[in-house]
Amino acid sequence: MLINRKILATLALSSVVTIVALTSMAPEKEGFKNLKVLPKNITPKQLDNVMDNWAHSLGVHCSFCHVRDEAAKKMDFASDAKPEKEMARHMFKMMNKINQKYFEAKKDSLEMMATSGINCYSCHRGESHPEVKLPEMKRGPGPGGPGGAGSPPPPPPAAPPGN
Ligand code: HEC
Ligand code: HEC
Repeated sequence: MLINRKILATLALSSVVTIVALTSMAPEKEGFKNLKVLPKNITPKQLDNVMDNWAHSLGVHCSFCHVRDEAAKKMDFASDAKPEKEMARHMFKMMNKINQKYFEAKKDSLEMMATSGINCYSCHRGESHPEVKLPEMKRGPGPGGPGGAGSPPPPPPAAPPGN
């Protein structure tokens, strides 16, 4: 009886220890120091995914947003020294707002990457700085065609047919 109780007590204690260890370990182990928009419980693999996604969407390397710690001779990913990093946070928040408000956007389990609606690539298309320009107007003749407000000057009149 006594032995059984001891075993039970030991088991109970060790499971408490395990649970405490598991819950406190997860965020600690990754050691991400400066997350303001991404979930704090993001795993290293998921963070890698997001970062690769951003870098590819903008057609840049990690150093576009992150600085190198020259003294330590390695990247300092937690540093906010580059304004591009803050801009990326800003963009991430904007994108989430648009998705929530105007799309029934589905998200992956960590609420990070939109699997429908818009993402960084929708606008950036592999460019760090999307060029803002008006589309080419290729409209035929008729009302609302050439001569309408904002359209380019009309082309010279075509030669009459059969001449
Ligand atoms: C377009 C800008 C951008 C690019 C490109 C980018 N990152 Fe990031 N990265 C961020 C932002 C913004 C955060 C902070 C996210 C937050 O505040 O939740 C971050 C956070 C991180 C962190 C967590 C740092 C910490 O401890 O807080 C790591 C690690 C990281 N990035 C690695 C990378 C790697 C590796 C690449 C290249 C594959 C990369 N990043 C490319 C913007 C970028
Ligand atoms: C709705 C369209 C749109 C989406 C979605 C979008 N961006 Fe942007 N982004 C822009 C535009 C437009 C600019 C240029 C802004 C300007 O000129 O002021 C820009 C600029 C930036 C810049 C600054 C580039 C520079 O040259 O300094 C960064 C960094 C950036 N975006 C990151 C991101 C990331 C990361 C995402 C996804 C989380 C994202 N963007 C999603 C439209 C978008």
